[in-house]
Amino acid sequence: MLKSVLCTALAFLAHAPFPGVQAAACASQTFKNPVLYEDFPDNDVSVGPDGAFYFSASNFHFSPGAPILRSYDLVDWEFVGHSIPRLNFGDGYDLPASGERAYRGGTWASTLRHRKSNGLWYWIGCTNFYLTWVFTAPSPEGPWTQAANFGGGVCFYDNGLLIDDDDTMYVVYSFNDSKQVNVTQLAPDGLSTVRTERVLLPGQVGVDSVEGNRMYKINGLYYILNDHPGSTAFVWKSTSPWGPYEGKPLADNLASPVPGGGAPHQGSLIETPKGDWYFMSFTWAYPSGRLPVLAPIQFQPDGFPTLITDANNAWATSYPLPILPRKPLNFTWSQTNYPFTTLPTLPPPFEWNHNPDTSKFTLSRETGLTLSTATVTTDLYSARNTLTHRMHGEFPSATVELDIRAMADGDRAGLAAFRDRSAYIGVHKSAGGDKMEIVAMFNMTLDEWGGPTLDLGRVVEAVEVDAAALEKVWFRVRLDARASGDHGARFEYSLDGEVFVGLGGVYELYTGWAFFMGYRFAVFNYATKALGGSVGVLNFATESGE
Ligand SMILES: *[C@@H]1O[C@H](CO)[C@@H](O)[C@H](O)[C@H]1NC(C)=O
Ligand SMILES: *[C@@H]1O[C@H](CO)[C@@H](O)[C@H](O)[C@H]1NC(C)=O
Ligand SMILES: *[C@@H]1O[C@H](CO)[C@@H](O)[C@H](O)[C@H]1NC(C)=O
Ligand SMILES: *[C@@H]1O[C@H](CO)[C@@H](O)[C@H](O)[C@H]1NC(C)=O
Repeated sequence: MLKSVLCTALAFLAHAPFPGVQAAACASQTFKNPVLYEDFPDNDVSVGPDGAFYFSASNFHFSPGAPILRSYDLVDWEFVGHSIPRLNFGDGYDLPASGERAYRGGTWASTLRHRKSNGLWYWIGCTNFYLTWVFTAPSPEGPWTQAANFGGGVCFYDNGLLIDDDDTMYVVYSFNDSKQVNVTQLAPDGLSTVRTERVLLPGQVGVDSVEGNRMYKINGLYYILNDHPGSTAFVWKSTSPWGPYEGKPLADNLASPVPGGGAPHQGSLIETPKGDWYFMSFTWAYPSGRLPVLAPIQFQPDGFPTLITDANNAWATSYPLPILPRKPLNFTWSQTNYPFTTLPTLPPPFEWNHNPDTSKFTLSRETGLTLSTATVTTDLYSARNTLTHRMHGEFPSATVELDIRAMADGDRAGLAAFRDRSAYIGVHKSAGGDKMEIVAMFNMTLDEWGGPTLDLGRVVEAVEVDAAALEKVWFRVRLDARASGDHGARFEYSLDGEVFVGLGGVYELYTGWAFFMGYRFAVFNYATKALGGSVGVLNFATESGE
């Protein structure tokens, strides 16, 4: 990132006395893949009315849903907000006492576009394989509201929205186990459907299924971008939105720019103001997640784009910067500190595991973020109000400062490396409130397809502390999040915020793909006996270790 900062500084200082020289100096600068070492899968990237790029991603069972990022150069991104303020998609999203849960549900592979004619942003996505929702907002920051759904049984699976030059809205999506692709024309208000046609079969390019559909109008032609899961991106083109389409591979089993990562295949086509084209995709790299990667593409005389690869025909680890000069952002991913006593609201990078019980947390200048226990359970996966934050970088770490004075007998609070297989360091209060232990708890295991909890975990190491004397405790977790790394998570605690002591040894993070989301940091507080206790979260800090 240093080079790009220099480039920005040059542009700023010089006021362009020698624009040619400056452009040449900047043009020699490069960016590195992944552009974000963070879990933002299924991107739909498009240009907003302000000329900035907007990136919509999947969030599954995390609330709010459908995160939105913004960038002025496709490389540096800032977190703007979410298209789905709350997951009102069924009881399971509230983790009710009846035991319903919505792991792997929620929002994924959806689409986000700005519509010039009425100034509205549209988010469209299918939930629970059953209902397709439209959310709209006057700006990416919101307020976002639920505008419509297209009726029970209509699922626009992995859909992409095109708003044509004449303002007609089309949505492309897969169905029948992704063995077919349809295009639907929406009504003028975008809130109901008027015409649907099947436009292509994956078999036309020799594969059995395609997902991740996007639709574009480029030089008067209609294009569909989609992919065979796990391997190949395809581009299809036609003179009509209804076809017939002919298709060609754009990226076929390319080696990932991230060591140990999978072939990038799903994503978005993006045009810069200079008229250059890029493909933003992502690489599967667990335990981190699905990391956005960017590469330039070039349209050929036959109207199909080809991807610029490196000398080994791989997705390159670096390319020239797309746009110069770069506009500095007020957002850093590599090192972030959140003193909750100074924050008026929870910043966008914080997302709850399922919808929070808003009566069980407060944010105030006096006490910071207070998490009252919201569930009586021994299952971390059934506890409400677990607050998560994505990990960033190859060696991410997080440190949380907790005020534990108001914990009740039976309460458990701490910091987790959170996924379908989780581990945490935390405080367990017991024995009528007299006993307090700091524990490393490993192996909380959820069925990776979103089914039942398979293992409640076990304490691998514990130290007793003085429940009457101790007011605050600090927890830290450090991970090797590289797909090519040792996948180790190491937990530490501190009683003074200075000296940290390891506990529990190394927990091996899980790298299976079926859960679809990568590891996150999670701050939790749940009751095993009765509600009433709370913890104060005074500070949360993350570092990428880059
Ligand atoms: C779904 O796709 C399969 C395989 O192409 C085909 O045999 C079947 O008829 C399709 N079903 C529908 C309802 O179109
Ligand atoms: C796809 O389009 C065909 C018409 O070509 C229609 O019969 C079918 O119901 C559509 N399927 C979906 C899931 O929209
Ligand atoms: C960045 O922060 C500065 C100082 O707080 C503020 O004046 C400016 O508007 C911010 N810029 C953006 C793009 O948010
Ligand atoms: C972790 O949980 C899984 C699922 O129940 C179980 O098969 C495995 O034995 C557990 N591992 C340890 C070390 O407890």
